[in-house]
Amino acid sequence: MSGSKVVVILTGSIACYKACEVVSRLVQGGHRVRTVTTESARRFVGDATLEGLTGEAVRHDLFAMGGALDHIELARWAKLILVCPATAHSLNRFAAGLADDLAGALLLARQPDTPLVFAPAMNPAMWTHPATQASVRQLEGWGARFVPVGIGRTACGEEGPGRLAEPELIAATVDAELARPTRRLRVLVTSGGTTEPVDGVRTLTNISTGYTGMAVAAHFARRGHDVVLLRARHAIPAAVLCREEIFFTFADLDAALSRLLATEAFDVVIHAAAVGDFGLDAIECDGVSLPPGRMKLDSNRPVKLALRPLPKLLGTLRAQSRNSAVKIVAFKLTSGVNDAGAVSAMRSLFAQGADLVVHNELGERGAQPDDFPARLFAGDGAILARCASRGELSHTLESHFASTGPKS
Ligand SMILES: Cc1cc2nc3c(=O)[nH]c(=O)nc-3n(C[C@H](O)[C@H](O)[C@H](O)COP(=O)(O)O)c2cc1C
Repeated sequence: MSGSKVVVILTGSIACYKACEVVSRLVQGGHRVRTVTTESARRFVGDATLEGLTGEAVRHDLFAMGGALDHIELARWAKLILVCPATAHSLNRFAAGLADDLAGALLLARQPDTPLVFAPAMNPAMWTHPATQASVRQLEGWGARFVPVGIGRTACGEEGPGRLAEPELIAATVDAELARPTRRLRVLVTSGGTTEPVDGVRTLTNISTGYTGMAVAAHFARRGHDVVLLRARHAIPAAVLCREEIFFTFADLDAALSRLLATEAFDVVIHAAAVGDFGLDAIECDGVSLPPGRMKLDSNRPVKLALRPLPKLLGTLRAQSRNSAVKIVAFKLTSGVNDAGAVSAMRSLFAQGADLVVHNELGERGAQPDDFPARLFAGDGAILARCASRGELSHTLESHFASTGPKS
């Protein structure tokens, strides 16, 4: 959501230089940004840089002449407060509710419905310290959202979790928080194809890229919904804001679905994964039966693969779901059928519990990578919408579920 008023609090981390890029992105995204710095942050970034980026004076002094009520005024002005970078010291101080500088006083004066986002940056030992982790939980308990820290080499030369997240992700999190949908949906998206090992190096899989699931997941996340993307190891990641889990085989996907559905009450499951239809039953080489997934088969010998049909995961989703009112979206690709033929092809998906089916016809596929001609069918055969792209499909699904979504 562009055009919002955002207060960015910078605290004393080496990552202040990256926070300048976050500030710049927010300004370029159309937001009005005011910055507040702690005393330590002022050692890392100059007022001129922040003022130049935002066109606003930098605030740092709780007792500034003429600005003694800045903490209250800023708290009322802000539509969102971002603490970036957030140091260990500041997280612990804010979690204790201390107001001994402008940043602390501003956070205590924050309006209860103003979103608060932290983007921490610190050495791995500081991040994993029980004091810091307890503060994170405390602040989350008060409604703050944390941008996940990066893992890798930190400025101090150590490897581990604690790096400031990438500016793109931080800016996207701000936009997602500001989007604040009237109804925040919990959405599980599956994407990509399952893979069955034949031997130690060869696999049986399909050509799914995971592009559709990724696009839908990213859309819902950007719009402020809670999204888990359960994607194949080789499928495209969503890059923004989704919690991701990875599967490889059919069994992995089956197990992950069972666990996620049983533990989290999803409102919507968008089952875009291309689940394999066949699993390997047996491998026979020179009359000898071999277990799948082992060694490397001799490429000079004939090999017989015995395949068995795999169960349809779609049919298991609702029964496993903690939220029995979950809405399920399935996908169907047909070849050479009209709308009536498509409805009959989709009958089995509705019988397995799908509430909506996204139907693509192979012959209608466009030349552009973003083309996605699709129809959205309801169980009674009614066409709810026609879409030309994945973006349109994502919008359609969101508005459908945000307005008619289930009570959970
Ligand atoms: C060069 C340098 C880099 C630092 N980087 C970090 C950092 O990335 N994260 C952190 O938590 N503390 C860092 N510190 C320590 C903080 O600056 C220090 O704890 C300070 O008191 C934080 O104050 P503030 O949170 O009020 O801004 C750094 C200190 C120095 C000297």
